[in-house]
Amino acid sequence: MVRSAYKHLSLVSKGATNLRDITDALWLRLREEAQEAYKRAPMLAPLFVDSILDQPSFEAAVFHRTSARLKNDTIPLSLLVETFHRAVAGDPGIVLALRADIHAVVERDPACERFIEPFLYFKGFHAIQTHRLAHWLWNNQEIDFALYLQSRSSDVFQTDIHPAAQFGGGIFLDHATGLVVGATAVVEDDVSVLQNVTLGGTGKETGDRHPKVRRGAIIGAGAKVLGNIEIGAYARIAAGSVVRHPVEPHTTVAGVPAKVIRKNDAEDSTCSVNQAINELSYDVFSYMI
Ligand SMILES: CC(C)(COP(=O)(O)OP(=O)(O)OC[C@H]1O[C@@H](n2cnc3c(N)ncnc32)[C@H](O)[C@@H]1OP(=O)(O)O)[C@@H](O)C(=O)NCCC(=O)NCCS
Repeated sequence: MVRSAYKHLSLVSKGATNLRDITDALWLRLREEAQEAYKRAPMLAPLFVDSILDQPSFEAAVFHRTSARLKNDTIPLSLLVETFHRAVAGDPGIVLALRADIHAVVERDPACERFIEPFLYFKGFHAIQTHRLAHWLWNNQEIDFALYLQSRSSDVFQTDIHPAAQFGGGIFLDHATGLVVGATAVVEDDVSVLQNVTLGGTGKETGDRHPKVRRGAIIGAGAKVLGNIEIGAYARIAAGSVVRHPVEPHTTVAGVPAKVIRKNDAEDSTCSVNQAINELSYDVFSYMI
């Protein structure tokens, strides 16, 4: 039996047929967007063809695109693509998580209307896929490869996420520049994190010393969340805040040090991407995307 780091993703429990349907709908949509983009910008043909139109599946395309951005003389494209496939064979939950990630960007980024935008251009989407690969390597004792990917992601995408950090699915790293996440941090499903956020230690603790960010929370640009503290489900951390104490679910905090500025109604919370996908039939999903 395959052990997945993404067991908590609601889609994991769905049957294979349902998952294939959802993948196919997303893949067809992405290919249509690539064909339209090709017509509008034929000078970028290799980008659309190599990354999407010549790829056999949505997952293969994501792995190819992310690898194309990461590759260098040390880790060629073929090695990266092959390692992604190895990771997915070991943990199929990675596929569910990355599908939820791309959906999260389109759902939550008001500047984004097409799947092709995060797929080709948004480094936050590529950074979280790189982290998923590094995390799998880390958990499979391929420590040096995992740390090299962290270092490479930091060069290419300006995100520094320790390979041991645990992320759910439906993660939206908006802009992603300057994101730092420590080894014992946990970020649950459907969390949004803006640029220049630190999920770090206080410098005074050892062992389990990083924040635990619960489902659906939003961490604004430049926020520093320090210590082994819980950021409750659907909490919001205002831009520029420094948070040193736990934040209750459905609560907004702001300032330095952060103080409660609002208690939100539970109904106001953003609908979980995974919940939404989980409840969708193939037809509804096709319609929605
Ligand atoms: C916290 C946030 C979500 C707004 O929440 P809200 O519940 O709608 O809060 P409001 O805008 O009504 O502001 C409530 C109070 O908090 C203050 N406040 C809001 N954001 C703040 C911040 N980042 N830092 C300090 N105070 C802040 C407001 O000035 C207001 O104070 P006042 O009542 O004395 O005027 C939003 O301000 C925020 O920080 N979002 C993150 C956005 C971001 O990262 N953007 C980057 C895009 S590139």
